Amino acid sequence: MSNRVFVLNGPNLNLLGTREPHIYGSHTLDQIGEAVSARGRELGVEVDFRQTNHEGVLVDWLHEAYGESAKAVLLNAGAYTHTSVALLDAIKAVSVPVIEVHLSDPLTRESFRHVSYVGMGAVAEVKGLGWEGYLVALEKAAALEG
Ligand code: DQA
Repeated sequence: MSNRVFVLNGPNLNLLGTREPHIYGSHTLDQIGEAVSARGRELGVEVDFRQTNHEGVLVDWLHEAYGESAKAVLLNAGAYTHTSVALLDAIKAVSVPVIEVHLSDPLTRESFRHVSYVGMGAVAEVKGLGWEGYLVALEKAAALEG
């Protein structure tokens, strides 16, 4: 197993900073990526921070994390969280532990956000802590065995 942690972000998260800041806060994704990478250096894990608006790309990146024997994946799949059986299948197909991350807490929002396909395969979840939830999730990833 490598000490690499993939941090994968799904659709519309590239617009953080201006996207519904009352829900998601005012940090941009670049700022979050920098903070997560810096924390990774402190924790001794190498952070690979990415974003895509495309479901299949998230599937490909999960396969890549598996192929590279990544230590863990932090996955904020955005709205695909609530719709994507393909992501659940990918999570179940790879032996890399996946930690589900959300800035908001979907369970306190619209009912269509209450289902999480990602959560059905994830080993842990961090929700409702804003951007700092990524740091909490990274700490969980760094503490995983191996
Ligand atoms: C989100 C929550 C999802 O319900 C939503 O579709 C997002 C962002 C979050 O980080 O709070 O795009 O994943």
